[in-house]
Amino acid sequence: MKIAIGNDHVAVGMKNHITEYLTAKGHEIINFGTDTAERCDYPIYGKKVADAVVSGECELGILICGTGIGISLAANKVKGIRAAVCSDPYSARLTRQHNNANIIAFGARVVGEATAEMIVDEFLNAEYEGGRHQTRIDMISAIEQGEM
Ligand code: RB5
Repeated sequence: MKIAIGNDHVAVGMKNHITEYLTAKGHEIINFGTDTAERCDYPIYGKKVADAVVSGECELGILICGTGIGISLAANKVKGIRAAVCSDPYSARLTRQHNNANIIAFGARVVGEATAEMIVDEFLNAEYEGGRHQTRIDMISAIEQGEM
């Protein structure tokens, strides 16, 4: 799967770890940065990854900052993005199955590497179930479009 990944300065090491981990599993990871420890602003990277997902360049996205929160808030301002912060594998699976999340976010200061691996595995391996969940996704889209 072609996956966009982005992060701020807090999460360079975690981004590199997850990139290596998923590349070894055969995924194509497109890196949108940052790649240095120099302090930066996470909305830049949240937007880059969100744009890559909405445009169809990448199927899904991964965002990492200190908590995963700021960078996901930024990504969620892009129409069509459903970015979910998950600190556990169960939520990561369910946000694909029920919420059709197209970006997973987590915090490099919140979860360790082993948990992060499980989170991305669950997210990438799960499938959106549709059905009754689509009504709710449509309502989220209606809010986004100012129709509700
Ligand atoms: C950066 O210090 C920190 O605020 C950022 O990584 C993230 O946790 C924001 O939500």
